[in-house]
Amino acid sequence: MSPVPTIDIGPFLSQKSKLWKNNGIRSLMVLEDNPGMISLLVGRPNSSTFPFESITLKLKPTLAGLPSATGGADPLTLTIENEDLNEALQYGMTSGVPRLLDWLANFQTRVHKRVLDGSWQVNVGSGSQELIYRTCDILMNDDDFLLIETPVYPYVHFVYLAVTQFLLVDARFRGTLGFLAAVPCTLIEVNADSQGLNPANLETILSRWHHTHPGKPYPKALYTIPSGSNPTGASIPEARKIEVLKLAKKYNFLVLEDDAYAFLYYGPEGQQARSYFALEVEVNAEKGRVVRFDSFSKVVSSGMRLGYITAVPGICNAVGLITLNTNLHTPTVTQIMAYKLLAGWGPDGFLAHCAGVAVFYRSRRDMFERVARKHLSGLAEWTTPVAGMFLYIKLLVHASNPDADSWELISTKAVAKGILAVPGRAFMPLRGPTPFVRISFSIIDEDEADEACRRLREVILEARAEAEAALDDCHLTAYV
Ligand SMILES: Cc1ncc(COP(=O)(O)O)c(C=O)c1O
Repeated sequence: MSPVPTIDIGPFLSQKSKLWKNNGIRSLMVLEDNPGMISLLVGRPNSSTFPFESITLKLKPTLAGLPSATGGADPLTLTIENEDLNEALQYGMTSGVPRLLDWLANFQTRVHKRVLDGSWQVNVGSGSQELIYRTCDILMNDDDFLLIETPVYPYVHFVYLAVTQFLLVDARFRGTLGFLAAVPCTLIEVNADSQGLNPANLETILSRWHHTHPGKPYPKALYTIPSGSNPTGASIPEARKIEVLKLAKKYNFLVLEDDAYAFLYYGPEGQQARSYFALEVEVNAEKGRVVRFDSFSKVVSSGMRLGYITAVPGICNAVGLITLNTNLHTPTVTQIMAYKLLAGWGPDGFLAHCAGVAVFYRSRRDMFERVARKHLSGLAEWTTPVAGMFLYIKLLVHASNPDADSWELISTKAVAKGILAVPGRAFMPLRGPTPFVRISFSIIDEDEADEACRRLREVILEARAEAEAALDDCHLTAYV
């Protein structure tokens, strides 16, 4: 049997990516670990002058009631000291702390059943968002096209100017922002529905490409959020992923799999779709088309700013060159913290912890749906998510115009009643109207949720009354 080929990433890289150059000192740092090597290379500060003696982390018992991460006498204390502390406080490798990278690569092998065969590697970044932005940057030229699942997270950007805690005087967009705003390319919206990205719509776009975009190259990549999407809460089933992957091969684009909510799956057991990264070999008999992004933000800490990219070395290295030339590396302190925790737990412990976190969010979802049904039945509708922390609610305000935009209602009237949520239009790259609103159920308790839904009910009822009055006026005018 012939080996599965890895795609040539060279033609996908942007002109700009070639401007970043390697740094002679950093590229020699790997040799420092060679036995007997004396290094006079890097201008590291002498860590004996740093004021920290040790870092002690007190752990909570995990939500899953797991065994300790320390294996030591005190099961809930992690201590970073001596060599670990030196490493944590010192400059580190651009790609990440090597033992953390090894741990993560083995973890990816296990979760996605991908053999560590040199066709892919893991690099860490200061949050997955940094890695996603930099990946788009090393791929996209001015005249390239990026397919983007819509509605989509990177487009949340609107300004609220508050004069009091609740009263807003101005709510407006600041143009097409979000991290993709600085990526020079043209965005092509691909519709997502309650089942996530719609491959039929993707196929329509691509099959008509030469008519709609004569003389233009096919899109280079697709950005998608496959699990518990932000904002829709939708998770794409495996059958759809397979269709998307086939189209990716047929039309030769990369799949940027932003799976920040992958570990917050709380649907039926054993039914979580495999990742694009897991499926690409089986579906397309090739490697390297999927670029995967994972995040520690939702399951360990968002303030630690730690995420990781899993991709062909050509992409990881190109992203790494931006890091090397801008912020050198992801903070080592948080990497060592993560490593100590993960190595203590082992992959099973980490997965069990994540499962515990997912159960927590399922109960939040159940709670929110309970109060939403109580107050909003007949006034709003939504699909129950099986992952993540969002409910994407369609407001049923205008019977005669069910797709009327929710922007005005949510950004002014709801706010005036003391309720903040994100109008769906904030997630539309091309700013199309939408009757949806994104609700986050991750933090609020049942009393607050109940009150929020009660207020939203009032807002919708008042808007309905206004819409009906306007319609009556219209009819009267027509008769005059
Ligand atoms: C879909 C999605 N991707 C990426 C991120 C950013 O994650 P990180 O904290 O790892 O940068 C978020 C944050 O909310 C998100 O919703």
